[in-house]
Amino acid sequence: MREEIINTKNQAIAQITETKDLQEIERLRIEYLGRNGKIAYFIKKIKDIKPGERKEIGILINETKNTITKLLASQKNRIKQSIREWFDPTIPGEKIEIGHLHLITQIIEEIAYVFEKIGFIRVRYPEVEWDWFAFGSLNFPKDHPARDEWETFFIDAKPHPLYGNMLLTPHTSSGQVREMLRAKKPPIRMINIAKCYRRQSDISHNPMFHQFEGLVIDKGINITHLKGTLDYFAKATFGENIKTRIRPYHFQFTEPSFEVDFSCTLCQGKGCKLCKEGWLEVGGAGMVHPYVLKAGKIDPKKYTGFAFGWGVERILMMKPNLNIPDLRQIYSTNLEYLKQF
Ligand code: PHE
Repeated sequence: MREEIINTKNQAIAQITETKDLQEIERLRIEYLGRNGKIAYFIKKIKDIKPGERKEIGILINETKNTITKLLASQKNRIKQSIREWFDPTIPGEKIEIGHLHLITQIIEEIAYVFEKIGFIRVRYPEVEWDWFAFGSLNFPKDHPARDEWETFFIDAKPHPLYGNMLLTPHTSSGQVREMLRAKKPPIRMINIAKCYRRQSDISHNPMFHQFEGLVIDKGINITHLKGTLDYFAKATFGENIKTRIRPYHFQFTEPSFEVDFSCTLCQGKGCKLCKEGWLEVGGAGMVHPYVLKAGKIDPKKYTGFAFGWGVERILMMKPNLNIPDLRQIYSTNLEYLKQF
């Protein structure tokens, strides 16, 4: 029996090392290690052996079984690897879909880039704000009805002892005094682009939207600097032919105050369905009110400044090639719609 086992082992080694595929390996495993295989046969036969020799034969059977088991495993690995090496490199791979930035993020980056080129620094201030930064420091007398124009969401929280109610900032102007207090000393050239919130929803308004706020404070700043900055922004964003104009208006925090119009980007100012008379209103602007400078601990006798604040979405809707009929679509989760931008 000893002889028979050794022969079986040698035969197994020869056969296993010759195998070329996994079916052959499986066939040999059954032949040697299976329930009715050769090793099982030897084990059954042990009882016929003289008791003195049983131990030696037992060890030999075990050894043979181990050798075959290990060899089957390593041969299996080798075959698997060679299968891998044979893969066909000409089969086209699976394409990984590449996404892109959301339309709003794209336009925010574009606006920031345009202003950074002329020395503005982009900052961000809290979306959850105190009344004082959004209104009080901006020269809104306590409980003044002008707050209503901003349709503010107030937060049901304990008011701050100095800064008053907690709210969702309804405009980026809340960053003006924050920036003055941060910078401590002019010159200030801020571009604050942030989310804002108001109770409004229709085809051109969403409760959450974005504004960008410019603020420049230095010695000798006047309206011509404001007008020049508006012209620069308009041309950089909509091309050389665009015109800007400012109209008198009222804001609590600027004096004088203006509304800013751009010549219509669809009809080049000729007059069309969108603009009627050739001009599109883009947002507010003005010279920073001395009260606001004081709230920011800046001396209004030494320094003057201008500020403007507009909707990011408005700029987007004025891009003639985009054609966005309903603003709310760009905040939907409809990927088929969003993918096109
Ligand atoms: N914050 C004003 C608004 O939301 C716009 C504005 C900004 C006006 C800066 C003047 C100066 O309507």
